[in-house]
Amino acid sequence: MKISGKMSLSSRMWLDRRERDPYLKKARTDGYCSRAAYKLMEIDDKFHLIKRAKSIVDLGAAPGSWCQLFSRRAEKTSQITAVDLRNFQPPDGVLLVTGDFEDDDLRQALINRLNGAVDLVASDMAPTTLGHPRTDHLRIMRLAEAAYSFAQDTLARGGNFIVKIFQGGDEKCFLDSLKNNFHKVLFFKPKSSRSESSEIYIVALDFKAHREFDF
Ligand SMILES: C[S@@+](CC[C@H](N)C(=O)[O-])C[C@H]1O[C@@H](n2cnc3c(N)ncnc32)[C@H](O)[C@@H]1O
Repeated sequence: MKISGKMSLSSRMWLDRRERDPYLKKARTDGYCSRAAYKLMEIDDKFHLIKRAKSIVDLGAAPGSWCQLFSRRAEKTSQITAVDLRNFQPPDGVLLVTGDFEDDDLRQALINRLNGAVDLVASDMAPTTLGHPRTDHLRIMRLAEAAYSFAQDTLARGGNFIVKIFQGGDEKCFLDSLKNNFHKVLFFKPKSSRSESSEIYIVALDFKAHREFDF
């Protein structure tokens, strides 16, 4: 890309970093709409969660690279449901629900559209960052809590949950709470996640399902 005129140092550094980013180049070659696909790919290569999931919910799905990977790796008969504030063109067969996941009505509408319990809830939701680490941390933790609550309401026994957070202090408590409901819970920092970013994923495996009955 060639851009004329004066550019600030930070814009130039951002552009340089993009041009050198191997995951961006790879995403173009592999046909993914964003480099985020490789974060999920690393998680799935390690834990093998997608192939055996008959129902998957992708939270914070736009622009759609996780959806692409879900449709490539899941069985053709699996149900994939994507949610985002932003509208985008999902892969064939993926149901998109557009709206704010923090809205109770949207969550209820989503539950109504599911065909029974879910095997994998994956949240890559992130607020627009403000560059104030404490605020960004608290805002993503609120989204993570909403995703966790949804996972508890919808996951089948043995189901799995992936959630992105920005590290900032409150994640330890969150992890401890997840440990009450899943047999195994761990932090996972994909190599494709920039080392300077506070982003990290929590992978919670094998839901205990304390519910008296599955919906
Ligand atoms: C990092 S992007 C996700 C990238 C995506 N996983 C992919 O592979 O293309 C984070 C997404 O979270 C969405 N998001 C943030 N807050 C949300 C909310 N309250 N409800 C639904 N989506 C939200 C944003 O609109 C944004 O598209």
